[in-house]
Amino acid sequence: MLRPLRTMVRRALEAAGLVAIPASQWRELRNHRTVRAIHRRDVIEIEELYRSFVFPDLPRDPQRVDILHNLEGTTVGEGVHIVHYLHRALRQPGDVCEFGCNEGATSRLLANEILPHAERRLWLFDSFEGLPAPGEKDRLIDDIAHLGDIARYQGDMRATEEQVRDKLALVPFPPERTRVVKGWIEQTLARPEVPRQVAFAYVDLDFHDPIRLALDFLDRSMQPGGYAVVDDYGFFSEGAQLAVDAFVAAHPSRWRLLMPHPAAGKFCVLERLAAV
Ligand SMILES: C[S@@+](CC[C@H](N)C(=O)[O-])C[C@H]1O[C@@H](n2cnc3c(N)ncnc32)[C@H](O)[C@@H]1O
Repeated sequence: MLRPLRTMVRRALEAAGLVAIPASQWRELRNHRTVRAIHRRDVIEIEELYRSFVFPDLPRDPQRVDILHNLEGTTVGEGVHIVHYLHRALRQPGDVCEFGCNEGATSRLLANEILPHAERRLWLFDSFEGLPAPGEKDRLIDDIAHLGDIARYQGDMRATEEQVRDKLALVPFPPERTRVVKGWIEQTLARPEVPRQVAFAYVDLDFHDPIRLALDFLDRSMQPGGYAVVDDYGFFSEGAQLAVDAFVAAHPSRWRLLMPHPAAGKFCVLERLAAV
């Protein structure tokens, strides 16, 4: 959801007195060879710095930089937090989930890190119809696509299952270890075909009600030592933070909220402390 490079370039151009880039030209600019080369160098440096000074236990991975470089709307800092907490969570048994996988840019990151752990499956949930209508607790705090009203985001961020499978094929991650669960999680999480035990989850659903639903699912399926990273805490819709705060307040002995350094991005980490 975060669009750090876009924001950075827009601010730089605005500061230079140049007009802001229209959304239609953004993709072209972002894919410009020079912009991508600068970004890649930054990714190498950021990943190395995190491993050297913040997360010294994080194993080196030869593919990680390229995957971090191709994240969509997720900061490199958030990507490194995701892999760090994923590796910690892998000390426990259980599968890995992403709630709201969109095109699979972050799914590819998760898949690459769990590739050597043959017993782990990757569960990817998405409507593939984009965002639902916002709920009562969703108020726009960052109008990321300049739509002017949160209701206009319904249907935004639509992706396809094929895009996700193509991203996983780049790893390459075995299809037999992948479960792409298509549909609204309000329905899919109520089905019997859900992971019995989850070690790590990335929750990226943007709006209050589905986030709370995913967290309640994790309360039932995650054991102590597991972690969830929740995107958009304090960003885009107020609902994401409200959902996390109310969830932690309801189960203070079972979950601890860990806040990253603000420069890393707008997300939070939930640590599973105790079983139900
Ligand atoms: C911000 S995108 C996810 C981005 C992705 N995690 C990544 O890092 O590239 C949010 C996704 O959540 C999905 N989504 C939102 N609410 C949902 C719900 N209730 N059930 C299923 N999918 C939902 C949307 O379709 C969209 O693809």
